[in-house]
Amino acid sequence: MEAIAGLRGKYLEQIASAADIEALESVRLAALGKKGEISLLMRELGQMGAEARQTAGPALNGLKSEIDAALKARRAGLEDAVLNARLKAEWLDVTLPGRPRPMGTIHPISQVMDELTAIFADMGFSVAEGPQIESDWYNFDALNIAPEHPARQEHDTFFMHRAPGDNRPPHVLRTHTSPVQIRAMQAQGAPIRVIAPGRVYRMDMDQTHTPMFHQVEGLAIDRDISMAQLKWTLEEFCRAFFEVEEVELRFRASHFPFTEPSAEVDIRCSWEGGQLKIGEGKDWLEILGSGMVHPKVLQAGGIDPSQWQGFAFGLGIDRIAMLKYGIPDLRAFFESDLRWLRHYGFASLDQPGLAAGLSR
Ligand code: PHE
Repeated sequence: MEAIAGLRGKYLEQIASAADIEALESVRLAALGKKGEISLLMRELGQMGAEARQTAGPALNGLKSEIDAALKARRAGLEDAVLNARLKAEWLDVTLPGRPRPMGTIHPISQVMDELTAIFADMGFSVAEGPQIESDWYNFDALNIAPEHPARQEHDTFFMHRAPGDNRPPHVLRTHTSPVQIRAMQAQGAPIRVIAPGRVYRMDMDQTHTPMFHQVEGLAIDRDISMAQLKWTLEEFCRAFFEVEEVELRFRASHFPFTEPSAEVDIRCSWEGGQLKIGEGKDWLEILGSGMVHPKVLQAGGIDPSQWQGFAFGLGIDRIAMLKYGIPDLRAFFESDLRWLRHYGFASLDQPGLAAGLSR
């Protein structure tokens, strides 16, 4: 009986001090494993006399279940501790805001194209497109630009290559978006109301010119369209685009082979302390060319000039982007400088609309 009390004390003590589940398992093996101390004693019961067995039996059984229960309780405690440690280490605050991930930005030119598309769409214009490598006919002839016109001269136009001996006129990088007028008229006939934003190319490079730049062409043909509607459309566009109540536009008589009469349009602005303001001030900035579509151009587009007439305009997108967002140097638009793009770029969720830009 003394031996039993000794075992009891020893194992309860070992169980209490087992630091982890592995240590506890070795205590279990030493006590209750196949060759464990208590198991061996129980095996010896068979060799005892009946009397001795009557006292030793219950005592050993009692010891066995007490140790077993202590082992189980300690095991549960150790497992709880492990779980608590994990819960603490793997703790996660699901209410924290997400980590911002650096994302690309929308280039101001793309933003402005989306803005003006939204504004003209609201006035009933749909978007038409044409190729940037254009045939000589679409870029010039169809637009009533005679072969001797200065716009055809080498210093303005990028010509594509022709194989030696191929005497057809070379294709060109389109010098304006006006060829899309012809393509749209051919494709849709009259009446028609389209805009055509896109890239154009001219050999020119300084602070306000790059060899590639952007225009948006506008074309509206119907039975009774006049200069008055051209003026209203452009004023309405500028008001919405620049988000000012009053814009003042100045129409200057001009000349384009593809419009008659023709007008260049300037917008009133001021440059003060390097700050550009639209709609007020003493300065004028040329932003577009326009006019009534020339009968020969209607004809080239397959539209009968005795039945239909309308206006066209070509607006410099880069120009109006610089004006609206206060970007001083045109060349920076196309240098792909990440710092510039992050500064002037737009978030992808900056949805263009009729009031685009108001949230900035
Ligand atoms: N295509 C002309 C240019 O590039 C602009 C323009 C378009 C003028 C339509 C009149 C009508 O300068």
